[in-house]
Amino acid sequence: MRLAWGPVELHPLRREDAREWSRLRTENESWLLPWEPSTGLSWAARHTPAAYRAMRRAATRRARVGTSLPFAVRYEGRLVGQVTVDNVVRGALRSGSLGYWVDRAVAGRGVASLAVALVCDHAFGPVGLHRLQADIRPENRPSRRLVERLGFRQEALFRDYLDIDGAWRDHLGYALLAEETPGGVLARWRARAPR
Ligand SMILES: CC(C)(COP(=O)(O)OP(=O)(O)OC[C@H]1O[C@@H](n2cnc3c(N)ncnc32)[C@H](O)[C@@H]1OP(=O)(O)O)[C@@H](O)C(=O)NCCC(=O)NCCS
Repeated sequence: MRLAWGPVELHPLRREDAREWSRLRTENESWLLPWEPSTGLSWAARHTPAAYRAMRRAATRRARVGTSLPFAVRYEGRLVGQVTVDNVVRGALRSGSLGYWVDRAVAGRGVASLAVALVCDHAFGPVGLHRLQADIRPENRPSRRLVERLGFRQEALFRDYLDIDGAWRDHLGYALLAEETPGGVLARWRARAPR
């Protein structure tokens, strides 16, 4: 599956991106650390090329059984981030949880908004989900702004929700339903954000 708009392209995680992913994530440690769930491993150990290959294998397995939609994000052909819908549940719920990050070097240009909007439209369209959620630390202003501009509503406050960077952190629960953006999430964002 490939999703694209202008210079932004999303595709499944590629085996050959291991070294570039490792370099990017290592360089972006201070940018990403305040927002990423702890694993008990050091940042360096979590971001070797071998760690990428293991992460890719696990993500591909989950994608095959339908519990995840993992995408790499490219900007002007260069790997710059990831967008993933995890915890995909079918049946009467038909929901999933969004996660995303971009390289600090491309932040603030709308790349992340575009990428997340493309994934939302894919999830609500061909995949058939009804609800997408994003759990965000109250301090993460760019991320809150991103989902708010795409139409997500704040529904909840989860106290001490995730172990991040050595402590339990509160999160705000945002959600968007398929019928809340009948014309599509990308169209809504583009209509509101002349860039
Ligand atoms: C969250 C993240 C993906 C957003 O990326 P980005 O490149 O800033 O996204 P965009 O350029 O699409 O901008 C999103 C919105 O946030 C706003 N924004 C960017 N930086 C901001 C800041 N420091 N304070 C307030 N708003 C900010 C942008 O202006 C934009 O709003 P607009 O559409 O009204 O102009 C990026 O900051 C990131 O990767 N952060 C680290 C990982 C992370 O936090 N992941 C999400 C965990 S929930």
